[in-house]
Amino acid sequence: MSDILVHAEAGVTTISFNRLERKNSITAAMYASMADALEQAAADAAVRVVVFQGHETVFSAGNDIGDFLNAPPSTPESPVFRFMRGIAAFPKPVLAAVAGPAVGIGTTLLFHCDLVYAGDNAAFSMPFVNLGLCPELSSSLLVPQMFGYHRAAEALLMGEPFFAEAAMEVGLVNRVLPPTEVNGYAQAQARKLAAKPLTALIETKRLMKKGQAAQVMTQMTEEGASFGRMLREPAAREAFTAFMEKRKPDFSKV
Ligand code: COA
Repeated sequence: MSDILVHAEAGVTTISFNRLERKNSITAAMYASMADALEQAAADAAVRVVVFQGHETVFSAGNDIGDFLNAPPSTPESPVFRFMRGIAAFPKPVLAAVAGPAVGIGTTLLFHCDLVYAGDNAAFSMPFVNLGLCPELSSSLLVPQMFGYHRAAEALLMGEPFFAEAAMEVGLVNRVLPPTEVNGYAQAQARKLAAKPLTALIETKRLMKKGQAAQVMTQMTEEGASFGRMLREPAAREAFTAFMEKRKPDFSKV
């Protein structure tokens, strides 16, 4: 079974994380599959909507930390950067169904979705600082914009989880549901959108996003350069090694 499942039906392409034994953490191969699926969905006129979903117990634990240690992305063509550009510029509606933990890119990708549904067990976190890293996927721009600066600083500097009701209050989540109902509800909403005229969906999304589309890409490129450098620096190496060794990181010497 693949770690990413892609299923197309009735105008809806569903991209499912399917690596439950590693809490749906995302490897380079998984980013490549998702980037390919987005490219195909953008090009195929039969596809009108994309849905990202995980399991009712976990959406995604973010980037695979072993990959961060052993094979950090090295060029703009690395799968993770291809995926980021793909989702940030995706022209058709994108929905997400989030239950359980959504860590790192599991949360930051949601800022590029048009509708987000969350289980009441959802726990969002962006622990980049705790890993010796900086934000990615333009989250350093989009989180302050959506949350307001001080709540963004809490989320991005402290890196602690925030939960479904708080996420709805700041506007990240459209609706909170029982975890077992989230994927089904997102699918039903996607079907409703898929019945609408595609040109109207695309033009409406383009108009809503055009004011800052270029800024989002510029910010993402700058973040990517810093993130790529920081991945190789001592603070991040200590954080990843500590995670693998199941101990607390010691940043006193970095
Ligand atoms: N990369 C690689 N492996 C991961 C992982 C990740 N991001 N997240 C979880 N795993 C692995 C764990 O190491 C563990 O492996 P093991 O069975 O060999 O011990 C397995 O998945 C189960 O994870 P565990 O931590 O025991 O599950 P949990 O339910 O207690 O906690 C999370 C779930 C998501 C809260 C927790 O796993 C977590 O915080 N993961 C790291 C998230 C992170 O920092 N991601 C990077 C963001 S940039």
